[in-house]
Amino acid sequence: MATLTTGSGLSLPCLVLLLLLGIPGVGAQEFQLLQPQGAVSVSAGETPTLNCSQTGNPPAGPVKWFKGSGPTRLLVYEDKGSFPRVTRADDRNTDFTIRISDTRPEDAGTYRCVKFKKGLGASLPVGPGLGCSQAVAARPSAPSVSGPPSRAEPGTPVTFTCTSGGFSPRDITVTWLKNGAPLPVPQPRVLPEHESVSYSVSSTVGLSLSAGDVRSQLTCQIEHSALAAPLLGTYDLSHALRVPPRLRVGSDPAGCITRNESVTFTCRAEGFYPQGASLTWLENGNETDLGKPSRLTENPNGTFTLQSSLEVRATEQRSQSAFTCRAVHDSQPPVSASAMLRVSLTPTLFSSPALWIGLLLEKMLTGAFLLFLFLRGHRPVLP
Ligand SMILES: *[C@@H]1O[C@H](CO)[C@@H](O)[C@H](O)[C@H]1NC(C)=O
Ligand SMILES: *[C@@H]1O[C@H](CO)[C@@H](O)[C@H](O)[C@H]1NC(C)=O
Ligand SMILES: *[C@@H]1O[C@H](CO)[C@@H](O)[C@H](O)[C@H]1NC(C)=O
Ligand SMILES: *[C@@H]1O[C@H](CO)[C@@H](O)[C@H](O)[C@H]1NC(C)=O
Repeated sequence: MATLTTGSGLSLPCLVLLLLLGIPGVGAQEFQLLQPQGAVSVSAGETPTLNCSQTGNPPAGPVKWFKGSGPTRLLVYEDKGSFPRVTRADDRNTDFTIRISDTRPEDAGTYRCVKFKKGLGASLPVGPGLGCSQAVAARPSAPSVSGPPSRAEPGTPVTFTCTSGGFSPRDITVTWLKNGAPLPVPQPRVLPEHESVSYSVSSTVGLSLSAGDVRSQLTCQIEHSALAAPLLGTYDLSHALRVPPRLRVGSDPAGCITRNESVTFTCRAEGFYPQGASLTWLENGNETDLGKPSRLTENPNGTFTLQSSLEVRATEQRSQSAFTCRAVHDSQPPVSASAMLRVSLTPTLFSSPALWIGLLLEKMLTGAFLLFLFLRGHRPVLP
């Protein structure tokens, strides 16, 4: 898991230092302390290796590891001390490579191995800068993206927050993408404000979702010097979205229904998200259980459509009855749509012979009148 980032900016000063030390016509026997590695990136819990070795004839005296520099520097390792989390990687006397186990964010910093020469009474460091520094950078944790506490309908502004922590140094870049396209966002907030062993970041983006976002994805991308590749956190916008159904009630046959005919009312609740919805039928405001079980289908765009039908006989008592379809979606207040049943009473008239004769007579009279008009229009004009 541990990736060692070598060849970073930090290794350059080390290289220069070693070259300068090597120049003044000295043989291979000249003592040198080599700390060849650049920046090391670790996540909490990993075990980074910090290299240090010596060449040539070293003077008598210990090699010690310090974190930081100046009077506040911290002794990290020496052979005669007890350092539970730090061990020598190699017990050859020329190799002072150490391993730090169970790393924590506060381990981030600059480590230096220093050679001491036994002096009178106390050991003295051998020449300043013989060891060169390397930083242990702490990797940010995988970003976590959170959305609104409850679903929002299209057009309502909602905010999303991306957080990560445990990183050092402080500089970090947070970018947001919606379906791969970058979103404009304000600067992220990095805490604490003051100098610290590790930092956390929080970035917020405001969005107004649309009904088409059921299949959309939000990505929070984090870039940091301790990372070889950006870290990504994703959020499916469907978790934050509620698209209410559009209700339509129709009847088959449509329009005026003849008495005793059977008529089917159909209710479609279209394009809703999430899935949970139910349809009930009411006849003049009274719930009826005549409705057929609803049929749910998933649309290609990720929304759902629910359909239910109700078959009734067009009795005379039912004329002008209102058939209402009521939809309850995602525990929201119900929405409803209605259709009126208009039962035509004409069948009784049509069944009387007098009416048929009357109709026939009327047609004949109209025909005769039209013929008369036609003939009159074509009569030759007399001189
Ligand atoms: C660091 O030291 C270890 C153990 O001595 C060695 O295996 C490794 O190759 C060294 N790495 C570098 C970058 O010198
Ligand atoms: C999704 O598809 C359904 C059915 O095809 C349609 O009714 C609805 O309007 C569509 N929604 C969007 C947002 O395009
Ligand atoms: C309608 O049906 C009922 C019973 O099914 C029947 O008694 C009545 O005569 C029918 N009416 C017409 C106009 O067909
Ligand atoms: C609704 O049902 C109740 C009892 O089931 C009944 O008394 C009432 O007349 C009905 N109302 C309508 C409008 O059908």
